[in-house]
Amino acid sequence: MSVTIRQLHPVIGGEVSGVDLRRPLTPDEVAAIEAGMDKYAVLVFHDQDITDEQQVAFSRNFGRIELAVGGNITKPTERRISLELADISNLDPAGKIYERDDRRRMFNLGNQLWHSDSSFRAVPAKYSLLSARAIPARGGNTEFADMRAAYDALDDETKAEVENLICEHSLMYSRGLLGFTEFTDEERVMFKPVRQRLVRTHPVTERKSLFLASHAGTIVGWPMPEARAFLRDLVEHATQRQFVYAHQWRLHDLVMWDNRQTMHRARRYNETGEVRDMRRTTIGGEGPTVEQVQAA
Ligand code: OGA
Ligand code: MN
Repeated sequence: MSVTIRQLHPVIGGEVSGVDLRRPLTPDEVAAIEAGMDKYAVLVFHDQDITDEQQVAFSRNFGRIELAVGGNITKPTERRISLELADISNLDPAGKIYERDDRRRMFNLGNQLWHSDSSFRAVPAKYSLLSARAIPARGGNTEFADMRAAYDALDDETKAEVENLICEHSLMYSRGLLGFTEFTDEERVMFKPVRQRLVRTHPVTERKSLFLASHAGTIVGWPMPEARAFLRDLVEHATQRQFVYAHQWRLHDLVMWDNRQTMHRARRYNETGEVRDMRRTTIGGEGPTVEQVQAA
């Protein structure tokens, strides 16, 4: 069988068929998927009933796995699954649904804000691969916004204005938007802001895109309120419906996205009543988007 991709939306998203993620891929299959990622930025694979090990093995075709450390308030020793997978579920380490006011649940609600994975790390993520192991009966879609199309649609004046801007990203900024502001000293060190360019160029296609996320809380050299107002404006522009593909999950879907050219967010569901078990492998990026004052 050969890899085929059907376009899902006018600017973003493709549906892949002809590949079984449980077995090793040929170099041609990997190349076809990479080319699909460059073109569509989001790829959907249906009916992939995989284990964590198979997900990790598939992910390794696309680069180095970014370990799930430093990006959450959950300690590495108090996890439900291995460090090679980010736990995007509503379950505690014992497999029990989080209480409504559980601090870990409240922190994870930040996934409902538009973001790009690991933009709060000095080296932000390349791809994310999210596998649906259990899904709620209703709600819990994931939406993806095309930041290339959003960049292209800016007027020339705004393009010139954003070209060389540098933002500071931190999990404390995104959580702060939800009123989650109490961090331990250890968390404040772990979530220290990092710098990212606002405009990125894709290494293969050379298309420019806006590198935005709710983690972005300042623009270097700008007064904070002016920076925040401008960033909000850009996010509002970038997430207009014509740039967004909304993925409605089926059990055993795997969705893969390029964090360098998209933002995404989770939508609400009955989090305290239904299990949603999603597991994410993350591929580390090639390097920082801008020189860091201090490596973070
Ligand atoms: C993620 C994420 C959104 C969702 O896995 O990085 O933001 O719908 N997930 O769970
Ligand atoms: Mn995410």
